[in-house]
This record gives sequence, structure tokens and C-alpha cells, in this order.
Amino acid sequence: MKDKQDKIFLQALQGKTFKRPPFWMMRQAGRYLPEYQAVRARTGGFLNLVYNSEMAAEVTMQPLRRFDMDAAILFSDILVVPHALGLDLKFAEGEGPTLPPIRDVASVPEFHQGRFDETLSPIYETIRQIHRAFNAEDMTDKTLIGFAGAPWTVACYMVEGRGSRDFLHVKGWAYRDPDGFSRLIELLTQATIRYLDGQIRAGAEAVQLFDSWAGVLDDRHFQSWVIEPTITIIEAIRKTHPEIPVIGFPRGAGPKYVDYVAQTGVDGISIDPNIPPEWATALQKKATVQGNLDPVCLLQGGAELDYAIDHILTHLASGPYIFNLGHGIHKDTPISHVERLVARLRG
Ligand code: CP3
Repeated sequence: MKDKQDKIFLQALQGKTFKRPPFWMMRQAGRYLPEYQAVRARTGGFLNLVYNSEMAAEVTMQPLRRFDMDAAILFSDILVVPHALGLDLKFAEGEGPTLPPIRDVASVPEFHQGRFDETLSPIYETIRQIHRAFNAEDMTDKTLIGFAGAPWTVACYMVEGRGSRDFLHVKGWAYRDPDGFSRLIELLTQATIRYLDGQIRAGAEAVQLFDSWAGVLDDRHFQSWVIEPTITIIEAIRKTHPEIPVIGFPRGAGPKYVDYVAQTGVDGISIDPNIPPEWATALQKKATVQGNLDPVCLLQGGAELDYAIDHILTHLASGPYIFNLGHGIHKDTPISHVERLVARLRG
């Protein structure tokens, strides 16, 4: 068994710089892989796959076997938290997730911790099984990343009841009735702390907080609903697990990335494709930057992909840095484009 010190992904999060930076890809386990499609077809619905520890561990391992990434991300979803809070989550084929919309304080669910832990226990088992696979397949230099959605982003799905373009219901509630809305955010903050704690106890070695819809809030609300809950979560995790690094991903935050990094004290900061790499070098003074190849560049391939990779590496690889996409890989991405990316990063 290798020592933590041999894991370059964790070293990068401690601030070390590498000539060939560690890399992984958001949504690296998924529909662009034929071997994922095969497992997915056998399990039926997406949630069945998430709660089947053996299959979920298998699909977590698939991209590492093909592309030798430095980290595996647990195969799960950010919406298992509302599901474990008792809400009727559905993933209809080709439709994306749906939940019964929560639009007022009276509808905010109670936190039944016993039921919450029980629902999520197969996911903790997945983590233990991934470590067994690391050991069996000589991958003990890999890092296992756990994750959760940040409270604001999970609230977006809970209040809208589905994905949204304008977020009228969730922003409307947050702007009109901050006290009431804060009850939902507080519930999600406590649930997220408990979920991440469970993942870390099972063996997650770093955690990422996905705040995919952080970018839809103005400054003041970004402070209340993105930064404040993130501070609370990170403080709680640091108290019980001071050695576990936290990566934040406030997608679309633009210039507010600066405040986010300074106030939350994240170890890693994942940047989306709209952030110029040269601008992100300023963030490297406080945190390890992760990102930000446009998934569409990877989908298209060719000279534009080569240019984008070089541009990112030129600016960011001389500081603490982890190569990644700026958002999840597109499902139609050719395997050969990922192979080309890996060859350039490793070469
Ligand atoms: O490989 C990995 O990155 C690990 C697994 C992972 C999934 N979802 C699996 C998944 C992770 C980290 C997520 C995060 C997630 N889920 C986010 C945050 C990141 C982001 O994309 O902004 C969000 C917003 C969700 C919610 C969600 N899950 C949506 C909106 C959808 C439908 C859209 C889509 O891509 O199909 C999902 C489904 C989902 N989650 C799939 C996967 C592999 C596709 C399901 C399938 O196989 O049919």
C-alpha cells in the first residue's frame, strides 16, 4: 500500500507544482464510454446504478482503466441528498431529474438522520469497494474523490422541481423571503456535512462541492447562499477531518471566484471555461486551481483542442494546478479525443 505522499493529486492540493500536472475529468464515468452504457443497460434506471455498490464501483473504475487518470470520482449524483431526505426523485429517460417542488417553509422536509444514513449506506459501500479495486488493480497511487452538491445548487432542483433556465421560483423565494429560504439552505447544509462525513469515513480522500448554479446570483445573494453555507460546510469537515482537502466549484461565478476562494478557504478551486487561465493565476496564490478545458473543445477535437490544452498549461501549470474540464464531459465525445488529451498531458 502506497503512502498518501505518493499520490500526486493530493500533493497538488497541498500546493505542490508538477511539470506534468495530475488530471481527471468531471463526469469521467458516463455515457461517452461504451462500457458504461453496457453496465447502465443492465441496471435499468440511473438511480438503480447509483445504489448498486458493486456496479457503481465498477463504473467508477472504468475511465481509470482506459485513461489512467490520477483520481477517481465516486459514481453517484448530487441529488441523492434530497432523495435521502425522503423526496421522490426521478430520472426519466432523456428528461433529466425531477423532484416534487418545494416552494415554501411549510414544505421543507424534516431531517430524519436514521433514514438519511440508511438510504445513503450503499454509496458508502461503493467507496469501500473502490478502494478494494484500487488495491487489486495496482492503483494505490490514485486518489478517490467524494462529492456533494452545494446547498444552493441542490435547492435549485428542489424548488424548481427540475432543471431550469431562469430559476424564477428559487431566486424569487430567496429574494422575497430570506428567513424562510434559509431554513431550506440550513437543512441542506447539515445534510451535506453528514453526507460528506459518511463518505470520508468510508474512504473518500478529498471532496468536491459542486455549485453548478452559483453563477445565477447577484453579489449579495452569492454571499448569503453560496459563500456562507460553503464556509459552514468546510469548517465542519475541517473540524472532524482536518487532513481532507476540499475543492469548490462555484460554476459561473466570474469575478466572484476571488471572494469565494478568499472567504471559504478551499484547498482547490475548479474553474469553468469562461475564466481566462491567465486571470486564474491570481487564484493560485491561495488555492490549487483545477480546470478549465471547454468540454466542447474536447468534443470537437483537432487543432482547436491542441491549442486550448497548450494555452491552459502555459498559464496554469507553473503553479499549483490539476488539469480538468471546465464542466462535465459531453456524452458524444469521441474516445479518441480523450486519448489525444491524455497523450498531450502525459507526453
Ligand atoms: O463521473 C463523475 O463525474 C461522477 C458522477 C457524477 C454524476 N453526476 C453522474 C451522472 C457527478 C459528479 C454528478 C454531479 C451532478 N449531477 C451535478 C453537478 C455537476 C454539473 O453537471 O453541473 C448536477 C447538476 C447533477 C444533476 C444531474 N444528474 C442532472 C441535471 C442529470 C441529467 C443530465 C444528464 O447529464 O443526463 C444527471 C444525470 C447523471 N448524473 C448522469 C450521470 C452519469 C447521466 C445519467 C445516465 O446515465 O443516463
